[in-house]
Amino acid sequence: MTPLRIGVAGLGTVGAGLLTLLAQNGEIVAARAGRPVRVTAVSARDRGRDRGVPLDGLRWHDDPVALAADPEVDVVVELIGGSEGPARALVEAALKAGKPVVTANKALLAVHGAAIATLAEQRGVPLAFEAAVAGGIPAIKGLREGLAANRILRVAGILNGTCNYILTVMREEKRDFADVLAAAQALGYAEADPAFDIDGIDAAHKLAILAALAFGRPVDFAGVHVEGIRNVSALDIELAEQLGFRIKLLGIAARTAGGISTRVHPCMVPASAPIARVDGVYNAVVAEADFAGRLVMEGRGAGAGPTASAVAADLIDLARGRVTPVWGASLAPVPAQPMSKHVGAYYLRLMVLDRPGVIADVTAILRDNAVSLDSMLQRGRKPGEAVPVVLVTHDCEEAAMRAALDRIAALDAVLEQPTMIRIEPG
Ligand SMILES: NC(=O)c1ccc[n+]([C@@H]2O[C@H](COP(=O)([O-])OP(=O)(O)OC[C@H]3O[C@@H](n4cnc5c(N)ncnc54)[C@H](OP(=O)(O)O)[C@@H]3O)[C@@H](O)[C@H]2O)c1
Repeated sequence: MTPLRIGVAGLGTVGAGLLTLLAQNGEIVAARAGRPVRVTAVSARDRGRDRGVPLDGLRWHDDPVALAADPEVDVVVELIGGSEGPARALVEAALKAGKPVVTANKALLAVHGAAIATLAEQRGVPLAFEAAVAGGIPAIKGLREGLAANRILRVAGILNGTCNYILTVMREEKRDFADVLAAAQALGYAEADPAFDIDGIDAAHKLAILAALAFGRPVDFAGVHVEGIRNVSALDIELAEQLGFRIKLLGIAARTAGGISTRVHPCMVPASAPIARVDGVYNAVVAEADFAGRLVMEGRGAGAGPTASAVAADLIDLARGRVTPVWGASLAPVPAQPMSKHVGAYYLRLMVLDRPGVIADVTAILRDNAVSLDSMLQRGRKPGEAVPVVLVTHDCEEAAMRAALDRIAALDAVLEQPTMIRIEPG
C-alpha cells in the first residue's frame, strides 16, 4: 500500500503528540486509513531540542515553508500556530503547490479563513482543521457532516479550557480570580501571558469558525462580541449559586430574527443545564438543529493527546480520499445582529449604601428603560454601609439594559460599577 507521506511543521505540544500517536497507534491508523500514514519530514526552530519522540531518518527543514516543495511530502500538517508569519506562509504555499493541508490553527482560520478557504477551493485542494476547535471533540465533523441535513439554529460552547478551569476553581474553592489565575499559571494551565485566553480571544477564534460552519457565511472574527472573565468575582459566583446558576464563559452563535449573533462572554446558565456541569479544563459544544434537535458534546479541548487525535482523524480522511468542502458548502454573506440588539435576561449586582429609597431609585430607572424585574436578592442589612443587591430581569434589549446601567451607576448610593452578566439557557 502506498503510504500517505506527511510533513509536520511544528514539534511542540501538538506536533510531538501527533508523532507519538502515529508511532503508538500506527496500525489502527493504517487500518482505518486504508494505508500507512508516515511522517517523512519535519520542521521546528530548534533542531537540538529533545522532543521525546525519535526524529531519526526524517527530513529536517529549518524553513517550514520548504515542506510545501518537498517531493517526499504529500500532505502538509501545520502545527506552528499564529495567524501570521510562518504558519500562514506555509499553508498558502502548500495549497498553491496543490498539497492538502491539515492544521490546528484557529487563529489563522479565524482571521484569514475566508481567503485561505477560497484559495483551497480554487485550487481544488483539501484543507482540514478538526483540531482547531475544541481539541479532541469532533465538533467540526459533528456540525459539518453529522448534522449536514439540518438547519442549525444555535451553537454554544465552552471553548477555552483555561477559563473553564479558573471559573471552576473559583467556585469550588471560593477564591478570587487573580489568585486562581496565578495558581493556574504555576501549574501550567494558563500561559505566562494569559490575555489571549482570559480575555476571550481564543474562544472567539473558535466561535468564528463554528459560526461559519453552522450558518454558511464567511468567517467574521471581527464581528464577534468578546468579553473575557477578568471581571468575574467570587461574590458573583457565590450569588449565582444561590440563584441556581453557574457562571461559564460561553461562545454563542445563533440565528435570530435580526441576523446571526456571535458573542463570547461570561454567562449565567441554569445549574441543571448539561453545560453547567462541564468543569475544569473540559470543553463542550452544544448544537441545536431543526431535525436532530439538541446535541451535546463534551471532552478535552486541548493537550497533546486529544489534539493529535483530531489531527490524525483528518489525515485518515485524506488517506481515504474523503474530502468535504472546507466550510461544508459555498458561503454567502448573512446579516449579523449587533450586540445592542441582543435580547435576553440579565443578572445585575450592585453595591449600594443600605439606606431608604435606593432600591426605589434603581427600579424606577429600570422601569423608565422598559426593563422589568423577575426577582431581587438583598443579602443582610447593614444600615449606612455597602451591601450587594442582585436584580434578575426578564428578557429585554441590550441597548435598554446598558442605558439603564449607565444611569444606575451614576446614582450616589451605588458605590461601584455594577456587574452585569447575561443569562443563557446553556
Ligand atoms: N496545545 C494545544 O493543546 C492545542 C490545542 C488545539 C489547537 N492547538 C493549536 O495547535 C498549534 C500548535 O500548538 P502547540 O501548543 O503545539 O504550540 P507549541 O507547543 O508552542 O509548538 C509550536 C511549534 O512550532 C515551532 N515553530 C515556531 N516558529 C517556527 C518557525 N518559524 N519555523 C519552524 N517552526 C516553528 C516551534 O519550534 P521549537 O519547538 O523549535 O521552538 C514548536 O515546535 C497552534 O495553532 C495551536 O493554536 C493547540
